[in-house]
Amino acid sequence: MGKTTAKKYIIPRYKTRIVGVSNTPISLISKKARMRELQRAHYNPFKISSSDKIFIDLLTASGTGALSKKQYHMSMRESDESYAGSLSWNRLRESIREFSGKQDIFPVHQGRAAERILSEIFLAPEDVTVSNGHFDTTEANFSKRGARPIDIPALKTSTAYHAQFRGNIDIDELRKRLDSPMSNKIKIILLTLTNNTIGAQPVSLHNVREAAKYAKKFNKLFMIDACRIAQNAYFIWRDEIQKQKSIPEIIRECFRVADIAYMSLKKDGLSHMGGFIVTNSAALTHAVAEKIKNVKKEIISGEGYVTYGGMSGSDMEKGAQGLKEVVRFTYLQERMNQTAYLQEQLVQAGVPIRDDAPPGGDAVFVDAGKLLAHIPPSQFPGKTLEVALYEEGGVRGCEIGSVMLGSRAEVETLRLAIPCRVYAKEHFDYVADVFGRIVKKKNTLSGFKITFDPGELRHFDGHFAPIE
Ligand code: F0G
Repeated sequence: MGKTTAKKYIIPRYKTRIVGVSNTPISLISKKARMRELQRAHYNPFKISSSDKIFIDLLTASGTGALSKKQYHMSMRESDESYAGSLSWNRLRESIREFSGKQDIFPVHQGRAAERILSEIFLAPEDVTVSNGHFDTTEANFSKRGARPIDIPALKTSTAYHAQFRGNIDIDELRKRLDSPMSNKIKIILLTLTNNTIGAQPVSLHNVREAAKYAKKFNKLFMIDACRIAQNAYFIWRDEIQKQKSIPEIIRECFRVADIAYMSLKKDGLSHMGGFIVTNSAALTHAVAEKIKNVKKEIISGEGYVTYGGMSGSDMEKGAQGLKEVVRFTYLQERMNQTAYLQEQLVQAGVPIRDDAPPGGDAVFVDAGKLLAHIPPSQFPGKTLEVALYEEGGVRGCEIGSVMLGSRAEVETLRLAIPCRVYAKEHFDYVADVFGRIVKKKNTLSGFKITFDPGELRHFDGHFAPIE
C-alpha cells in the first residue's frame, strides 16, 4: 500500500444551521424493498431514484455537491437572467480569469459541450489525440469526429512513473510517438487533471511542464482537461513542490503552459451545472488563433448566446463563487482527507484498491476483479459488487469495468465518488461496515449477464440479470 494521509478526525468546516432546509433527508429502505428496487431497475442503479431509495449516493461527484451560503445567496438573490450581457456572466468571466490566468473565456453548459466544440474545430477523420487518460465523454466526442484517441498513462511504465503521481502521462512514449513517422497525425496532446479513468490519480507539475515542452517542440496543440485542477494542485502542493507555491499559483501555472483548456464547473467549480473553454488568443499561433474564433459560432448554434453558453444566471453565480472557494486550502484538505479516510476504512475491512494506489482525488476505486476473483470479467465482477453494495446497505457506486468500457477495460473496478461537502465521517464508517459484510460473504456472490445491450452507453441504459 502507498502512503495514506487520513487523519483520525475529519472536521467539517461548517456546522448545520437549519435541519431539513439545508439538509436533505435520506432514507434506508428495508433490504426486501432494496431487492425489489434492483429487480425493477434491471440491476442498473442508474435507474433507481435517489434520496428516497438510496441511503448513501456515491455514483458521481459531478454536480452533486452542496452549495455554500454565499453561493446560495448569489444564485438566488443576485443572479441576472438577461439573455445578452448578463451581469452574472461578467462575474463568472472575471472569476475564471482570476482562477486560470487566461483572458479569453467561453461559456458552455458542461464539460462535454467543450469537448464537442473543440473536437469539431480542431479534429478531422484519421487525426490522433494523445493523453494520460481521455475521460469517456472526451473519447466519445473525439471518436465521433473520426479521430483516434490514444491513452499513454505512465502508471506501470517508463521514467515518468511516480508513486504519488500515478496520473502522469508517459513522457518517453509521448516523445517516441512525436518522433515517429506517424507524428503528423497527432493533433492534440491532452492532459486530464486529475486522471479520472485510472483512479482519480494526480499528475505532477513536472509532468505537465514536460508534456507542454514536447507539444511546443513538435508544434502540437497542448490542451488541459481542468475538471479537477484544484484537487490536482493540492497534491502538487503537498507531494511535489514542498509548499513553495500557493494552490492558486499552481493552478495558474498549469493553465499557463496550456494553449487551450476546458473545465466542467460540476467538479472543481463546486456547481450543479456549467463549464468553460479558456485560452490566450494573443499567445496562439496564427493558425490556431484563426480556428479558435469559431468557438463563438459553435456556442451560438449549439449552446446559447456567448454570455451564457447554456447556463442560467443562477448557474453562473454558483460557478463564479465556487471557483473562489475551491482554491481554499481548508476546503481541499478536508476533501482529500475524506477520500483518504474512506479508502483507509475500506482497506481495513479487507477491500482491495485499484493498483494498490494511495488515495486519489474525489473517489476511491475498489478492485472488484481482485475482491471477487471467482467471477471472470465476462461476468462483470464490478456489476456484482455494485449490486451487492446497494442490496446490502442502500449504497450506490458506479461500475467502471467491462460493463462501461467493454473490451477497453483493463481492471474491473467499482468507483465510490464522494460528493463535495455532502457526507460526514459516520456515513463513510457505515459504507466501510457494509463492505465488511460483503467481504465476509463474497464467495456466495455470482456474476451477471446483459439482457439488454443498447451499445455504446450501456452502463446508463442497459439491463442486467444475475447468473444463477
Ligand atoms: N472530463 C473529465 C475528466 C470528467 O470526469 C468529466 C465528467 C468530463 C470531462 C465531462 O464533464 O460531466 O460536465 O460533461 N465526469 C463525471 C464523472 C460525469 O462522474 O466522473 P461533464
